[in-house]
Amino acid sequence: MPKFDFIDLCAGIGGLRIPFETRTGKGVDWKGLNGRCVFTSEKDENACKTYAQNFKGKSSAEKIFHEIDRDFTVLDPNTIPNHDLLLAGFPCQPFSHAGKRQGFKDERGSVFAAIASIVRVKQPRVVLLENVRGLLSLKNLDSGTLVIEEILQELESCGYFVPKPRLFNARDYGLPQNRVRLFILAIRNDIAKKNNLAKNADFETYWPNPTCDRGSLRVGDFLERNVPISYTISDKLWKGHLERRVKNRSMGKGFGYQAFERSSSYVATISARYYKDGAEALLLQKNKNPRKLTPRETGNLQGFPRNFILSESKVQAYKQFGNAVPINVVHAIAKKIEVFLSNK
Ligand SMILES: C[S@@+](CC[C@H](N)C(=O)[O-])C[C@H]1O[C@@H](n2cnc3c(N)ncnc32)[C@H](O)[C@@H]1O
Repeated sequence: MPKFDFIDLCAGIGGLRIPFETRTGKGVDWKGLNGRCVFTSEKDENACKTYAQNFKGKSSAEKIFHEIDRDFTVLDPNTIPNHDLLLAGFPCQPFSHAGKRQGFKDERGSVFAAIASIVRVKQPRVVLLENVRGLLSLKNLDSGTLVIEEILQELESCGYFVPKPRLFNARDYGLPQNRVRLFILAIRNDIAKKNNLAKNADFETYWPNPTCDRGSLRVGDFLERNVPISYTISDKLWKGHLERRVKNRSMGKGFGYQAFERSSSYVATISARYYKDGAEALLLQKNKNPRKLTPRETGNLQGFPRNFILSESKVQAYKQFGNAVPINVVHAIAKKIEVFLSNK
């Protein structure tokens, strides 16, 4: 019997979901908590396909699998099934350094407003949100206040205890990738009270500690064997990378491409644009041009199960893993917050 029900909003390919359920079906197989997903929403058609291939009907424990509802912001919150845990890796473009940083002014910012409406109506026991580090410094252009403060206040006004959000680096949780992500938690007031949570300091021990020593990680352990030659970049692309690096340096504009070896302890953040030229993580090879990571390798570096079914389109697979959450971090958080999720 599942111990709690959850919903997966802005689901991408289900990175936040994996640590909250256990699957022992054919093809896919992983061990997370014993939760059951009762509703999913993802707007991108390609991500929906990958999500459905991996999650739909693969587990007998999952009696309820609602067809993926594309855009939950247009739904009446009352129509969403009751749940104990709300998960959402809400869009990061309006909040990321690379984006335009319009925050709530950007229409994608209003996704949070829709999440808050669901929280207010459905009152899940716990809310877990994920975003990029840039959200911490983003200001609301109208009010001049920090967007993160508005988000936290909104959750509090829904009847929640909201500890100070935390940044986690995938490198501290067994993944050799320098990927920092922000996690926001909210615990319904009655459950917080039962667990003696009144102020931020009371929650400190619930945030997980690092599970590994960064220096012990080796990128090579996450790479595939016998990678086809097509992943080795062409002379033209390599020349372009080298020239851009020199140009960038003379303009004081960062590094350009980033290269690593099998023995490196980490690669740079893999983004959704990795498919373009692999600039953020090229693997150096002996007597050959460097190569790009394969889509499977980018999934490995995000902690996805090795039997996770990839999009048939390489471009989509790179985009989907580049947008995903580092799963090991979520596993560590899930174990700590399990205590708040059910009475069962
Ligand atoms: C950062 S990604 C989430 C990745 C996810 N945590 C994972 O690990 O795969 C944000 C996702 O939100 C989706 N999204 C944005 N607005 C949405 C909406 N209104 N309804 C449903 N999904 C939405 C985007 O298509 C994108 O896939």
